[in-house]
Amino acid sequence: MADLFIEQAKQYSETRPSYPQELFQFIASKTPSHDLVWDVGTGSGQAAVSLAKIYKNVVGTDTSQKQLDFAAKLPNVRYVCTPPKMSVSEIEHSIAPQSSVDLVTIAQAMHWFDLPTFYDQVKWILKKPNGVIAAWCYTVPEVNPQIDSVFQRFYSVDSHPYWEQERDLVDLKYKTIDFPFEPVDGVDHTGPIEFKAEKLMDLDGYFTYIRSWSAYQIAKGKGVELLTDAVLENFKVAWNADGKSQKIVTFPVYLRIGKVGLSN
Ligand SMILES: C[S@@+](CC[C@H](N)C(=O)[O-])C[C@H]1O[C@@H](n2cnc3c(N)ncnc32)[C@H](O)[C@@H]1O
Repeated sequence: MADLFIEQAKQYSETRPSYPQELFQFIASKTPSHDLVWDVGTGSGQAAVSLAKIYKNVVGTDTSQKQLDFAAKLPNVRYVCTPPKMSVSEIEHSIAPQSSVDLVTIAQAMHWFDLPTFYDQVKWILKKPNGVIAAWCYTVPEVNPQIDSVFQRFYSVDSHPYWEQERDLVDLKYKTIDFPFEPVDGVDHTGPIEFKAEKLMDLDGYFTYIRSWSAYQIAKGKGVELLTDAVLENFKVAWNADGKSQKIVTFPVYLRIGKVGLSN
């Protein structure tokens, strides 16, 4: 699956939203210490860069070297390209020792993982009992009713056959994703908790965001261009209706958060 993100790594790094400060502040308020984070499926470091302002060290891992090539380099962020499945000794060698990590984050990536194996690794690497896992996804962009209605048709009809089944977990806001962790202090559930990410975009940026989808890549691989002239025209008319070339695009973000607890 990681291959789906290779071709469009550049578009990905340019057009995906970065996440709001409130999200990171909320998560950080739930980890007693701020030493080490493992950001899994880090992509081009969309979350790692913000985490590096709060935590002493961040290890960002991804199965795609091409994604990592576009990540911002910071002195306290170490990027590692990993295989999709790692043994405990590989984790110990390339990420961190057992019970040493304050926080594991997964931004818009956990639906791709083999969850039972991944959760065993998370439980192995997190500090006990207060090590925290925070996994979030974001769903479709919101701009204004006119653009969003063109988008809805495009998303739910044109692009629909090319999304992998895992996308259903995102459409359902991670409500149904298996999440075997205890609620963090001060919260009586593990989410989803809603935040909002925003990005200023022009129409070209909006199209580039669509081209960065795995579904767009899959369709292209089958010889199908999803952004046909007719679709481009529909978006163009809707986008230009208010006469403003740049617009704030909002992505609703849904966070699942839990701690490892004593029983794990
Ligand atoms: C949608 S991108 C998210 C990137 C970034 N975290 C963000 O918030 O934009 C999903 C990323 O997960 C990576 N990925 C997929 N399966 C993986 C796995 N088993 N282990 C690590 N990374 C994986 C892909 O290469 C891709 O960069």
